[in-house]
Formats: sequence, C-alpha cells, structure tokens
Amino acid sequence: MDSLAPTDLDALKARYGAGGEPAGARLLRNEVVDTMLGHRSVRDFLPDALDEGVLETLVAAAQSAPTSSNQQAWSVVAVQETARKARLAELSNRQKFIDQAPLFLCWVADLSRLERLGAAHGQPMEGLEYLESYMVALVDAALAAQNAVVAAESLGLGTVYVGALRYQPEAVAKELNLPPQAFAAFGLAVGRPAPEAARTGVKPRLPQELVLHREQYVVRDERAVLAAYDDRLSAYFQSTSGRAEDWSRKMLGRVGTVAGLGGRHLMRQALNALGFGLK
Ligand SMILES: Cc1cc2nc3c(=O)[nH]c(=O)nc-3n(C[C@H](O)[C@H](O)[C@H](O)COP(=O)(O)O)c2cc1C
Repeated sequence: MDSLAPTDLDALKARYGAGGEPAGARLLRNEVVDTMLGHRSVRDFLPDALDEGVLETLVAAAQSAPTSSNQQAWSVVAVQETARKARLAELSNRQKFIDQAPLFLCWVADLSRLERLGAAHGQPMEGLEYLESYMVALVDAALAAQNAVVAAESLGLGTVYVGALRYQPEAVAKELNLPPQAFAAFGLAVGRPAPEAARTGVKPRLPQELVLHREQYVVRDERAVLAAYDDRLSAYFQSTSGRAEDWSRKMLGRVGTVAGLGGRHLMRQALNALGFGLK
C-alpha cells in the first residue's frame, strides 16, 4: 500500500453526502483511492483531441483487469470519426456528449473470438451457447471498462458510460461491424472535461449500512435510512442542476414499470438475434 495520509472524513462526506458517511470510519487514502472516491460522470467535453497514447494506455489498463479463466471475452471498438459518433449518438437516444467527446469507446461482450478459436480447431464450442458464457463476457467487459475509467480519471480526463447504446443493439452491431456473438454492452465517452462539467460534484451514494452486510445478508427496515438518503441526493441535485430529484422516486420510475426500461425489455430477443444462445 502507498504511504497513507491521515483519516480524511471530507472525502467520505463528499462520497456519501454529509451525514451519510460511515460513522467512525477510517479512510485509508492514497492516489488510487482518492481518484476512485472523487469519481463523477462528465457529460460536457472540450472538443480537444486526446494526447497521443491515451487510447492505448486506456486499453492497456482495461486489459490489466482480472478476467474470468483468462478468457478475455471482451473487445472494445474505439470510435473517433465524427460521422460515426453522430450515428451512434442517434442510436443512443441522442445523447449529445457522444458527439462532443473526442473518443467514444464501445465495450463489447465478445464470445466471437472463442467461437473462431473453436472453428480453427474443428471444435464446436458448445459452452458458448449458455447464459453462463454470456455472463462471463459481460462481466469481463464491465471490469475492463471500469479499469479504463479509473485510468482516464487519473490522467485528468472525464468519462461517462452510455447504457443507452443498448436501445438498438442490432443497429449498433451493424454500425460497428460486429460478428455474431459480439454485443456492444455499453459505450464510454472520453474527453477533457469542459468548464461546465465542474457543475456536477461527487454524487452521494447509498450509505454503507445498506450495501455492506457482514457475514450474511440482513434484510432490515430500510425506510428511514432511504428517506435520509433521498434528502441528501435531492440536495445534491438541487445544488448542481437546480432540480431536486430523489432516489426512491427515480428508481420507482426506472424499474417500477416495463415502460421504464425504455424498450430494453426486449434484450433477450436482441441477444438471440446477435447469436447468443443464453441457454
Ligand atoms: C453501465 C452504465 C450505463 C450508463 N448509461 C448512462 C447513459 O446512457 N447516459 C448517462 O447520462 N449516464 C449513464 N450512466 C452514468 C450513470 O448515470 C452515473 O454513473 C450514475 O448516475 C452515478 O453518477 P456518477 O457516475 O456521477 O457518480 C451509466 C452508468 C453505467 C455504469
């Protein structure tokens, strides 16, 4: 471990919102931890091109993530052409930061390489037809992408994930020329944060008492703790966007109805069409 600075409750207060920080916790700080605790999504980018080597550095960081059985069942498509970014933005609910950011990374859950390996060896790859293999690929892609996020932030860059890339998986696969058994699971816009990005601070998370279970999961009455979190998150949104928005109401809208999934309830069919068996 790097040399540790003294306990710093300010970083925890920022992460959880004042009052939501774990009581009496000691935070072991170093540059890596500080980068992670200081994370916030950036949705306003300068048009500046990225320095030479940034893309390769981010991919090396991504490839340094652990990967299930060393399968490395992911790929990334780096999109920098203006017209292609615009088309992907259009397919992703017109999120403007995709056009703005100099780099848009499409993270691919990729079983196609293993399928090709099998073909080269005359081996039908039966295991790839199962949901487990898809989960391996999706988890691998997520771990890799998050390593790239931490690396980007440590270099002073900003990022935002784009799950909206899943609104039209087949059209996106066509745009990226993906082979069967490859699925663009989410995008990641990367660039230099524009001054407007400073408006958004660190977004408070649920208090640890709701997510950290010791030895066994304990289902408890969460209402009072959630109400307090709703207040902290509303205060955060009020101060950053001028529009109070609490977590509970947002989640009820997001997953309370099928409509809240915005069309993505058809994901299984889309994945089947892209060549995933999901048995
Ligand atoms: C897989 C994934 C998909 C996401 N998709 C979007 C998206 O389509 N658009 C967007 O503006 N933010 C997206 N986000 C960012 C989240 O909204 C954001 O991480 C969350 O609200 C917490 O805020 P923070 O990252 O600033 O801490 C996504 C995040 C993840 C992990």
